[in-house]
Amino acid sequence: MEQNIEHPEAGTGFRQKLEAKNRISNIIAVIKDAIDLTKPKWKDECEKNGIFINTKLELQDTGPVSMHPSELREILTNLIFNSVDAMPEGGTITMRSCEKDSNVVLQIEDNGIGMSKDSKKRVFDPYFTTKDIGSSGLGLSVSFGLIVQAGGTLTVDSKEGKGTTFTISLPISGTQEASEDPTAERSETQSLKILAIDDEKQIVDLLATMLEGLGHKIIGVTDGQQALDYLDKENFDLVITDLGMPVISGWDVAAKAKNKKAGLPVVLVTGWGAEYESKDLTEAGIDAILNKPFRLDELTKIILEQCPEKK
Ligand SMILES: Nc1ncnc2c1ncn2[C@@H]1O[C@H](COP(=O)(O)OP(=O)(O)O)[C@@H](O)[C@H]1O
Ligand SMILES: [Mg+2]
Repeated sequence: MEQNIEHPEAGTGFRQKLEAKNRISNIIAVIKDAIDLTKPKWKDECEKNGIFINTKLELQDTGPVSMHPSELREILTNLIFNSVDAMPEGGTITMRSCEKDSNVVLQIEDNGIGMSKDSKKRVFDPYFTTKDIGSSGLGLSVSFGLIVQAGGTLTVDSKEGKGTTFTISLPISGTQEASEDPTAERSETQSLKILAIDDEKQIVDLLATMLEGLGHKIIGVTDGQQALDYLDKENFDLVITDLGMPVISGWDVAAKAKNKKAGLPVVLVTGWGAEYESKDLTEAGIDAILNKPFRLDELTKIILEQCPEKK
């Protein structure tokens, strides 16, 4: 499956567009959207199977936050789906919003099966899942990434047999000019053309979201062969590739990238705790390693290191 995310406005118009997009002034509307969009799953599908799930809303108006509405919708959708999965005999999902200190606080609570202490420690790990094949185990790590990127936090409270509460906290975006403009710093950075490859579409989406936010132009693909085709056809400033993909691996992509253009930097994305000798990496055409789950600041740092002076 190909996903081609190009931004023709990556130049000057980008800044204005990003500013308008990257702001949620009506949190309640976004929460209600997420509930409506997920209704086929928590209501229609469940009721067909004799499972009854209610939603309870305790929503207060809040100040604005610097996040794209579609990102918050994705996060809430992930959390709602998890709550539905955790309530095989039905129950209630409670959604709350309020302001606390200078943050917007959102909670999603269910009275489902809860989780063990061990699971609780690992919920935000990429690929951690207790569900059957078909579950990616990425919902929470992707949500975590999006929230951290927006300067917020995501925490969990859960008791086995009692239920689970996820709490999102996002800084209220200030009224002063400097903090109003989330792109102030970013507009200084160069715009690069980046090829991103991962067989998990959610990771490609996450990379695209992060990189677009930095003003770059992204081609995101979910298989190695498409990546090789792109490397043949187009010129890139940077390649970010997953390591473990079926058929064509990250090593193959790196070799091809270096073969095409000797100085083309390649960043390899790997899972937890993998260790490599730097000599082996250099020989394989890898310039840097990014560990999952990656954060925006790590990604920014690597890009600056790899592409320091390109205008
Ligand atoms: N509301 C919840 N109640 C109980 N367990 C949960 C809840 N949300 C997440 N979990 C646990 O965290 C794991 C990871 O969640 P997630 O990252 O969304 O991946 P997935 O839903 O694909 O398993 C789940 O498999 C489950 O064990
Ligand atoms: Mg999930």
